Amino acid sequence: MRIDRNLFSYEMPTKIIYGTGAVVMAGQEIQRLGANKVLLTTDQGIKGAGLLNPVTSALAKAGIDWVVYDQVEADSDVNIVAEATSMAQENQCNCVLGIGGGSSMDTAKAVAVMSTNPGSIYDYVGLDQVKNDPLPIVAIPTTAGTGSEVTIWAVISDKKKQLKTGIGSIKMMPDLAICDPELTLSLPPLLTAETGMDALTHAIESYVNTATQPISEALAEKSIKMIAEHLRLAVANGEDIEARDGMLMGSLTAALAFNETRLGIAHAWSSPLGAYFSISHGLANAILLPNVMEFNLIGAPDKYAKIADLMGENISGLSIMEAAAKSVEAVRKLLIDIELPRHFRAIIDIEEEDIIKLAEEALKSGNNLVNPHRPDLDDLIAICKKSL
Ligand SMILES: [Fe+2]
Repeated sequence: MRIDRNLFSYEMPTKIIYGTGAVVMAGQEIQRLGANKVLLTTDQGIKGAGLLNPVTSALAKAGIDWVVYDQVEADSDVNIVAEATSMAQENQCNCVLGIGGGSSMDTAKAVAVMSTNPGSIYDYVGLDQVKNDPLPIVAIPTTAGTGSEVTIWAVISDKKKQLKTGIGSIKMMPDLAICDPELTLSLPPLLTAETGMDALTHAIESYVNTATQPISEALAEKSIKMIAEHLRLAVANGEDIEARDGMLMGSLTAALAFNETRLGIAHAWSSPLGAYFSISHGLANAILLPNVMEFNLIGAPDKYAKIADLMGENISGLSIMEAAAKSVEAVRKLLIDIELPRHFRAIIDIEEEDIIKLAEEALKSGNNLVNPHRPDLDDLIAICKKSL
């Protein structure tokens, strides 16, 4: 069946509160959700940086009780979800609040699902498998990257099996997202760069893919512009609140775009690579992105020409393909400026045989189905080899 591009839907059930100091509203907003006992999911770094304090003082002011699960690790493991779910149940929590990067927020989503649904987290892998409404979910990002605060997805890993998997359901959209740029001020330059490139990859992959539609396109354009203007500044000086604001808005709008469209080859590849080699999600995407863009140029040249323009390249007088190619140059220049590695071998010991083995896994991703240049197994292998 051919779907007319004029026929589309855009669903956004999350209430977003955005702005410097927004976190003080957490208590009264959670009260409105009818909750009086909240499980906070977070990691040691967030706790150590004192970022829980503004949240817990807002909860205290509203007379809301809480318990903290602070053992979240990068790419939350199934065991962490199980531990945090037990804590929520033992304490009779009726709301889950994830504060941190993608892993803390995704853990909150998974705990909210497992608090009201039987069986194991594996029963809900894939799209739309969640049966019962989860507990109310609140998401407070402290990085500008994942956008999990406004998406249906939670990425959960099984570190024993070296697997990463996604659980996606409209029921897992947070009820409330509090986006406060001040909470991102303490993010170190490397993490700022890596998570920022994840957000840029979201925006670009959503913008060029075949599921794109006018609302997500507008959001992706906004995101690309914000990230191109602010990522260098945020890496250079983490305390630049305007740069942090630009990046948080860039990451939020990217997620609002891709939540409706899915992504593309960079995300198809970054999951198996991240699970097998423990490379950070943002860095894997950053290394792959220019090579994926080069492969994709012929599938959406007008879109890539627009990306070049949005990223500040001069495209006047160029042919459409020349202008499109400028977008790849713009991303490569950005990667050099923010000092991220541009090849996998700079960070991990990876051989061509590893790639051939993992490519089968990458090919299974639904993100390939909306990529503007449909890849086969050999294309995926070639893109990854180019990124070595
Ligand atoms: Fe991502």
